[in-house]
Amino acid sequence: VIAAGGIFDRDDVERVFKLGASAVQVGTAFVATEECDADYRFKQAFVDARSEDVTIIKSPVGMPGRAIRNKFIEDVENGKRKPFKCAYQCIKTCNYKEAPYCIAEALLNACKGDLENGFAFCGSEVHRISGVTTVKKVIDRLFGERR
Ligand SMILES: Cc1cc2nc3c(=O)[nH]c(=O)nc-3n(C[C@H](O)[C@H](O)[C@H](O)COP(=O)(O)O)c2cc1C
Repeated sequence: VIAAGGIFDRDDVERVFKLGASAVQVGTAFVATEECDADYRFKQAFVDARSEDVTIIKSPVGMPGRAIRNKFIEDVENGKRKPFKCAYQCIKTCNYKEAPYCIAEALLNACKGDLENGFAFCGSEVHRISGVTTVKKVIDRLFGERR
């Protein structure tokens, strides 16, 4: 069993290992690292996010996703549409003629730093990120010796 979701430090790893997991999958904690190739504005959104900024959205393909609330998300919630041509045909379940925006375009825009025309998916513990660090330090925080 690989445990995933909200794993941030050694206590989290120990907790899920005690429950029987044999590995962890970690996403969010690696975004705010120097090695991550996303734009610095994307990383900054992770650094700035407070727990109350995290929301669950329903993506255009019908699945829920946890994301950092911003104006783009609020616009869509308020019924605004973000016109697009379907450039990717990435997911069969997307009815692109009805969808209010293109999820692939929104995520790519955000990753490139254009958070006005997109948004960032994130893990539930994003608020625990306090700055941009290195992969080595993230690994140390997850698996290093206790000081
Ligand atoms: C920037 C980012 C992009 C993600 N993209 C996807 C995705 O395309 N598909 C998916 O199934 N999960 C995606 N996830 C969810 C990760 O699989 C999830 O974060 C992972 O299980 C670890 O949880 P954590 O982010 O709390 O560490 C994404 C997560 C982040 C932070």
